[in-house]
Amino acid sequence: EKGTYAHYMLKETDEQPFVIRNIIKEYQDENNNLKLDAAIREAMKKADRIYIIAAGTSYHAGLVGKELLEKLANIPVEVHVASEFSYNMPLLSEKPLFIFLSQSGETADSRAVLVKIKEMGHPALTITNVPGSTLSREADYTLHLYAGPEIAVASTKAYTAQIAVLAILAVDTAKEKGIELSFDLIQELAIVANAMEVLTDQKETMEELARDYLATARNAFFIGRSADYNVCVEGALKLKEVSYIQAEGFAGGELKHGTIALIEEGTPIIALATQENVNYAIRSNVQEVVSRGANAMVISMKGLEQDTDAFVLPHVHEVLTPLVSVVPLQLLAYYAALQLDRDVDKPRNLAKSVTVE
Ligand code: F6R
Repeated sequence: EKGTYAHYMLKETDEQPFVIRNIIKEYQDENNNLKLDAAIREAMKKADRIYIIAAGTSYHAGLVGKELLEKLANIPVEVHVASEFSYNMPLLSEKPLFIFLSQSGETADSRAVLVKIKEMGHPALTITNVPGSTLSREADYTLHLYAGPEIAVASTKAYTAQIAVLAILAVDTAKEKGIELSFDLIQELAIVANAMEVLTDQKETMEELARDYLATARNAFFIGRSADYNVCVEGALKLKEVSYIQAEGFAGGELKHGTIALIEEGTPIIALATQENVNYAIRSNVQEVVSRGANAMVISMKGLEQDTDAFVLPHVHEVLTPLVSVVPLQLLAYYAALQLDRDVDKPRNLAKSVTVE
């Protein structure tokens, strides 16, 4: 039920802090240790490489998951768009583990890959919001997202839930492998949930920013480096799906290798700046586009902000920034769509789960 909300997309965006708290509860034992099936731990330890298979927003969550698994658990990870993988399979490692990321658990492109790799005898773990879904039933193992039903076609809370569960999987695997980590994930996720709540309380600001930067735009570019780049591709997808404004996410350094030709007077550029090691670099990319007339909105993280930034995110642990930086991008997409009078919960040409290849 959407209750007092005008749209499910807004309700589901608002639910994200509660989803994160729910995930903390479900993946924690009575001694506040991470809790995962022994069989999943074993499969993670055995794998020499992980292949994440997904589509759309789930693919974007997979890009974040790759960084978490590689940086924290020291396992090589490849992320693949399901529809490409099934017709153009890369060389596989000796002991691959496949992770299927899917909110619905019904995406036909992902299922086609699952069928193929099962025939080849490889193990599969599905991470899904729908227990009992096809991808869950047909995989060897399942991790649940505990996000509650997601009704809006544009995915919001499933994205953040997928990242949180992948963070748990990464930290748990690190612990099992004896890798020392310098932070407590449960504590950091609790900080993330609070930060998300601060953000979902700032809807008026996001509504104004959408009006100032996007409502009359034909196109928009999202730029970021490193972890921010992964969120930029998701921010762009959200915006195009619900507002129909043509939008793309770019690595900060890549825009000048061609796409900068599209920048005109007033073209909106949304830049994320949450990573210390690339803060200087992304800011010089912002300068490059501003000097060509772009209308730049910088969204930075507390501690890295500058006076001219449009919006400052509460501080969270650096590896978890995608969980908070995506929230304003979801809200910007939502308000831009409203201002353009779009059918927010049911964008044209889209279906909630794509069950044809
Ligand atoms: C975007 C969106 C789609 C889905 C994609 C995969 O907002 O909803 O891009 O993310 O169709 O769906 P699942 O995760 O159900 O496999």
